[in-house]
Amino acid sequence: MKILITGASSGIGAEFARQYASPENELFLLARREEKLCKLQNELDSQCKRICLLTVDVRDFELLQEKVREIGTLDMVILNAGISLGHSHTKIPTIAEFKNLYDVNVLSQHAVLEVVLPKMQEQKSGKIVFISSLSSLFTMPSAKVYASSKRALNAYAEGIRYKYKEDGIKVITILPGFIKSELTDKNDFTMPFLLDTDEGVQMMKRAIDRGKEFYAFPLRFYLIIRLLNLLPSLLRQRIVNYLH
Ligand SMILES: NC(=O)c1ccc[n+]([C@@H]2O[C@H](COP(=O)([O-])OP(=O)(O)OC[C@H]3O[C@@H](n4cnc5c(N)ncnc54)[C@H](OP(=O)(O)O)[C@@H]3O)[C@@H](O)[C@H]2O)c1
Repeated sequence: MKILITGASSGIGAEFARQYASPENELFLLARREEKLCKLQNELDSQCKRICLLTVDVRDFELLQEKVREIGTLDMVILNAGISLGHSHTKIPTIAEFKNLYDVNVLSQHAVLEVVLPKMQEQKSGKIVFISSLSSLFTMPSAKVYASSKRALNAYAEGIRYKYKEDGIKVITILPGFIKSELTDKNDFTMPFLLDTDEGVQMMKRAIDRGKEFYAFPLRFYLIIRLLNLLPSLLRQRIVNYLH
């Protein structure tokens, strides 16, 4: 399989590279930090058919599309690159921060797919994996910009799923809870149901390999969020105030 993984230099993306490293697979690993990507390539080179590094800032949409075009056909794309603004209870995010986050978390995904989708349509097959977040289902005020970007991603992924299903393209939306990574290392609060990176990615890989269209986990955390969403808004507001 030819697999493109964005945000492959650390955390979930790097662990996806490790778990998809096999003699049948050609991995295309994309991120900005070249030294991290090279280290990963050295670690996995002997286990893979081929590893190719793409050192790109996903906010540079033109260069991103050029690099993705150079790959040619792909069997799977894991759209994983993403950032958060942290959890500030007091600071109002600036418009520049808001735009930057949307460029990475939402628009760059479309930049990749604008190139990838016609090729997958031609070959009548392909898997597109969106790494969203459980936070897209319940917005904590301290992470509203991040949560909104992931909710936008869910809606976008849903549209892509309906549109391209008949072309043999499978769209998989994954909503993880908390997983250890550089992103969560910055959080200074207790993260419920926090998973180790390898365990979290194992669960996601299993869902992808089975072709699940929607996978939200850990299950207990997902069910709690579903339950919170069923509550009357006044009660939900009280719970948010308490947690905040
Ligand atoms: N960890 C969690 O608990 C959790 C939960 C739900 C969803 N997620 C999602 O999972 C994804 C991976 O996050 P993570 O937790 O593994 O965090 P991470 O360790 O910080 O990884 C983020 C990855 O995205 C890349 N990236 C960020 N900005 C980029 C840019 N402008 N251009 C190219 N690459 C860029 C980073 O590479 P460079 O810095 O080298 O560019 C890095 O490889 C994100 O979409 C995140 O929202 C994470």
